[in-house]
Amino acid sequence: MAAVPNSPHARDIASLIHPMTNLVKHEKDGPIILDEGKGVWVKDIEGNEYIEGMAGLWCTALGFNNERLIDAAVAQMRKLPTYHTFFHRSNMPVIELAEKLLTMTPVPMARVWFANSGSEANDHMVKFVWYYNNALGRPNKKKIIARIGGYHGIAVSSGSLTGLPAMHKGFDLPIPNILHTGSAHYYHEGRPDESEEQFATRRAEELDQLILAEGPDTVAAFIAEPVMGAGGAIIPPRTYFQKIQAVLAKHDVLMVADEVITGFFRTGNTFACDTYAIRPDIMCIAKQLSSAYMPISAVIMNEKVFGPIREFSNTNGMLGTGFTYGGHPVSAAVALETMKIYEETDIGAHVRKVAPLAQERLRALGEHPLVGDASGVGLIGSVELVKDKATKQNFDPSVANFLADACTRRGVMLRACAGIRVAFCPPLIIEPEEIDMLFDRWQLALDDTLEHVRENGLM
Ligand SMILES: Cc1ncc(COP(=O)(O)O)c(C=O)c1O
Repeated sequence: MAAVPNSPHARDIASLIHPMTNLVKHEKDGPIILDEGKGVWVKDIEGNEYIEGMAGLWCTALGFNNERLIDAAVAQMRKLPTYHTFFHRSNMPVIELAEKLLTMTPVPMARVWFANSGSEANDHMVKFVWYYNNALGRPNKKKIIARIGGYHGIAVSSGSLTGLPAMHKGFDLPIPNILHTGSAHYYHEGRPDESEEQFATRRAEELDQLILAEGPDTVAAFIAEPVMGAGGAIIPPRTYFQKIQAVLAKHDVLMVADEVITGFFRTGNTFACDTYAIRPDIMCIAKQLSSAYMPISAVIMNEKVFGPIREFSNTNGMLGTGFTYGGHPVSAAVALETMKIYEETDIGAHVRKVAPLAQERLRALGEHPLVGDASGVGLIGSVELVKDKATKQNFDPSVANFLADACTRRGVMLRACAGIRVAFCPPLIIEPEEIDMLFDRWQLALDDTLEHVRENGLM
């Protein structure tokens, strides 16, 4: 579609660089310009309405017009619109938020560090892990193991943790000292004769072997998303985290839970660590922390990690790191209000009430000729597109992209992941009628895609 000169579309093309976008294709296709939002719905400037089946980028838990969050931002803007937390300065919203978060964690935690995005949180997690091991006089214990298919952001070290080739290509990533082990994608990587439990055992053994091969005195931490997001909304196979954590404990390797997507009731529990019995040393959170109304993220660490960091800052004269906007009072006030709303509305109970319908409708998509696997937990899940259900052979990524675009045309925003799956992750406030609408539209888009695949002889 050629953009009309001087139209908003043409102005976008002439002025913006879009992330995770083919910049040449963008010049031809142009943007969808979103203009308004209400509940789980968003509207573009041409008046087309969509169910936001991805909560934006897995984040707008409370929908697109929550007045309490808006009021919290405005009130804080009026009182103290900005301040930093360097050099012993603080503000009340950030203190209250840190205190609140420490009451919510799945295991006892000691301190909270604030940043502005998931990428920054994971990047600082790396710095803290290195600092911690330097504090303990273990300068060689620095390697961090992430997983193939994992997504932890796009900054230099968090982008290195990310295990998706498209995010390394051309950027000279990953940096040294970041390793990747196999993912928890049982449907795709389990062997034909292997149970979920056996697959989990194999993955844990592979991790053990990797740590032994590298030398346990060189491996500092392991990071995982409890439910892998951008890698395809992949739920872990039974017993996976239990077995992984046993390996980590054996080698004194820290467990880092990237709860950036899964934190705050996405799986029905406060954290997905609760859902999968993960006992992290460090947690990274963002997104639903403020329902994405303001940029804010955090690294939360236990006493084992914080204690040596505290002492080392004294040895070094200070903790020589920080962001101008880390602990920003407006972001903190909005996040604090978000926590209050989650609690007062018992959002977890709502998720647990509506999730069975969403998961039932998701599983029903598994009957579609194009779908090999349809799985999820709480209000997150995905389908995997296959040419042949018996061999599980995937299409090339153009088919998942076609499906995501077909969903958009049918009025639901979903997302192609890792070239083979299409995910949903709607606002947590979604109601049963909206879940039905979302899946009705997804089903129609799958039919459109089947027609496309057949017409083009792709199957
Ligand atoms: C699990 C996970 N970690 C980290 C990030 C990075 O967050 P951000 O985009 O805020 O930098 C994301 C973003 O989607 C994510 O899904």
